Amino acid sequence: MKKWLGIIFLIKYILAHPTPIVLWHGMGDTCCVDFSLGAFKQFLEREIPGVYVNSLRIGNSTIEDFENGYFMHPNKQVEYVCNMLANDPELQDGFNAIGFSQGAQFLRGVVQRCGHKLPPIKNVISLGGQHQGVYGLPHCGALQHATCDYVRKLLNYAAYYSWVQHSLVQATYWHDPLDEIMYKKSSQFLADINNERKINKTYIANLNRLENFVLVKFDSDSIVQPRETEWFGFYAPGQAERLLPLEESNLYKKDRLGLRKMKESGKLIFLSTPGDHLHFPQEWFVEKILKPYLL
Ligand SMILES: *[C@@H]1O[C@H](CO)[C@@H](O)[C@H](O)[C@H]1NC(C)=O
Ligand SMILES: *[C@@H]1O[C@H](CO)[C@@H](O)[C@H](O)[C@H]1NC(C)=O
Repeated sequence: MKKWLGIIFLIKYILAHPTPIVLWHGMGDTCCVDFSLGAFKQFLEREIPGVYVNSLRIGNSTIEDFENGYFMHPNKQVEYVCNMLANDPELQDGFNAIGFSQGAQFLRGVVQRCGHKLPPIKNVISLGGQHQGVYGLPHCGALQHATCDYVRKLLNYAAYYSWVQHSLVQATYWHDPLDEIMYKKSSQFLADINNERKINKTYIANLNRLENFVLVKFDSDSIVQPRETEWFGFYAPGQAERLLPLEESNLYKKDRLGLRKMKESGKLIFLSTPGDHLHFPQEWFVEKILKPYLL
């Protein structure tokens, strides 16, 4: 009996043409190696038979992909991915997308900046994305890599220098709550996609076109500071202790990005899981994300 159920399940998916999935990896990671996103791609392919998964490689090789996560300007990365997605024939009927860590805010950049030129983007899952930026990079987690240490030092001293903004990816989403004016003026990526300087209506319309925007926060995250940024929360302006949830921020109250509308219509989903950054049990992912949003 169990075997038959399995076969029926399988036929159902083959006939249903599962919606393709796009993955965007995080800092210090790459698209395809076996022990990271490569394994996650295989996991999705196992759980959703017949699914097409495009794990984005930013660059011509794995090494470039790794380096670009630190040094290729997010505005360029977003443009690069917009082109890649527009030219992928497998995605032409629409797709879901999952962003890991900084890949999640870059994915949102893609939705907002070129969503109107792409096939329908249905559900976007943000796993530990830094939607209000970061203020601090406490350590590099498992990636005790020289590049990461260099990045940490530079961010603490010079994040808003123009040359740093131009040359260091993480500076473009550095958010200093003690100097909001500087952040709004100088952040070359995040302040723009969060409509902090001006309101771009295309951004709002494109984001609102999603079926669901799912924000996952890791409750024991030791890498992202503050972890509330994963739900669009951040420090209240002028200090770095008291946190404001999205609902109490100006971004929400003045609805500069259309998030209030999305929340009220049930499209903005907040999930959390107890682990550290990007650590989650597979069963949790299957129940909370795969079944509701990816099937
Ligand atoms: C891919 O290679 C070309 C030719 O060497 C180079 O100009 C381009 O910048 C590379 N792409 C990326 C995204 O690094
Ligand atoms: C708003 O965003 C769209 C899409 O990226 C862009 O084409 C347009 O120039 C932007 N408008 C303004 C006023 O910045």
